[in-house]
Amino acid sequence: MRLKHCHNFHDFRKLAKQRLPSPIFNYIDGAADDELTCRRNSRSFEECDLVPNVLKGVSHIDMSVTVMGQKLQMPLFCSPTALQRLFHHEGERATAGAAAKFGTMFGVSSLGTVSLEELRKTYNTPQVYQFYFHKDRALNQVMMERAKAAGVDVMMLTVDSITGGNRERDLRNGFSIPFRLTLSGMLQFAFKPMWGINYVTHESFKLPQLDDHVEMSGGALSIGRYFTEMLEPSMNWDDVAEMVKLWDGQFCLKGVMSVEDVKKAIDIGCTGVVLSNHGGRQLDGSRSPFDHLAEVVDAVGDKIDIILDSGVQRGTHVLKALSLGAKAVSGGRFYLYPLAAAGQPGVERALGLMRDEIERGMRLMGCTSTDQLSRGNLRFR
Ligand code: FNR
Ligand code: LAC
Repeated sequence: MRLKHCHNFHDFRKLAKQRLPSPIFNYIDGAADDELTCRRNSRSFEECDLVPNVLKGVSHIDMSVTVMGQKLQMPLFCSPTALQRLFHHEGERATAGAAAKFGTMFGVSSLGTVSLEELRKTYNTPQVYQFYFHKDRALNQVMMERAKAAGVDVMMLTVDSITGGNRERDLRNGFSIPFRLTLSGMLQFAFKPMWGINYVTHESFKLPQLDDHVEMSGGALSIGRYFTEMLEPSMNWDDVAEMVKLWDGQFCLKGVMSVEDVKKAIDIGCTGVVLSNHGGRQLDGSRSPFDHLAEVVDAVGDKIDIILDSGVQRGTHVLKALSLGAKAVSGGRFYLYPLAAAGQPGVERALGLMRDEIERGMRLMGCTSTDQLSRGNLRFR
C-alpha cells in the first residue's frame, strides 16, 4: 500500500500501521480503558443527517472561518499532539508545513519534538501553543513568556489531563518516553527496520518545550511521571484566571465539556473553548463532544468561540459540527496517521482530501459559505 492509494482516514490508518513499530502505532491509535468514548466520538456523527437544498447556484465556495481572531482558509485545523518526530522523522515540521500550505492552524504540544520558536519562524500560518499547568508557578510564567516572545497566536491550556488516562495498550507494550519497552514491545521494533533507520539517522529525540526546564532525558522522567509529578492536580479557576490575564491575548481551554465550565471560561476572559475528550484517551465513558455540542451552543454559543474536537474523520463530520454551531473543528489522528505513513506529503494529502470533501459537501448542500450551514439543514434520527 502507498500514499496514493490512501483515500480516507481508514486507508491512512492502515498505511501507518504497516510502517510503524506496533507500540508506537498503538500509542496513537489507542485510548483509555475500554475505548468506548473513542469509538463513540466518530459514531456520534451518524446520529444525524444533512438535508441539502438544491438549485442554489453554487459555483464559488468559500469555506474560510474566523476563530479566536484567526482567519483559517478551511474550517478544520490540526490539534496539538505530542512526540511527532517519533511517528515520522519530519515530525512537527511536516504538520506545520502542510497546515501552512492549506492556510489553516496547527497546534504545538508542550510535549512537542520541535521548538515552538523554530516553527513560528519557519511557517507563516496561525500557531497554537498547547500548555499544561505545572506545580511550579514560576515555570508556568517563564513558559508563557517564551511563547509570547516567539509570537504564538493562541494559547491553549489543556484541562482534561491533570492525570494520565489508563491506556492499557501502552501498559501492555511498556510504551513510555524514554523507551522502557517490554521484550515483545522491543521485538516489534525489529519488524520495522525502516522506521529504526530513520529514527537513528535523524536529529536525536528532544522535547524542546520542556528540556530547558524539566529533566526529561536519561530516563529521569517518563511522560507518565511528568503528568503525575510535574503537573498541578489542584489547578483551579483562579489559577487559570491569572494565566489568562498574564497572556493578555487569545486564550482557550481544551477539554472543557459542561455548560457550567464554559460559562466560567467566559467569565475569566477566555476567547475560545475546545469541546474535547482528548480523543477518548483520558476519561473513558465520557460524552462525545458532538453529542454535546448543541447543548453548549444553545447556552453560550454567542459569547465564546466553540471548537469541536475528537472523532473527526470526514468532511461531512466538519459540516455537521459547523451546522450545529461550532466555529471550527480540530482533530489529531486524522493527520497523525498520514504523518506516520508519509511525512509532510501524507499530511498534505489528508488536508487536501478533507478540503475536497468539505467543498464537495458544501456544494451538494447548496451552501457557498460556512455561515449558511445551520440547524435548518440537519435532522437527528
Ligand atoms: C493527543 N492529544 C493531545 N492533546 C494535548 O492537549 N496535548 C498533547 O500533547 C496531546 N498529544 C496527543 C498525542 C496523540 C498521539 C493523540 C492521538 C492525541 C489530543 C489531541 O489534541 C486531540 O484532542 C485528539 O487527538 C482528538 O481526537 P481525534 O481527532 O484523534 O479523534
Ligand atoms: C496524550 C497526551 C500526551 O494524549 O496528551 O498522549
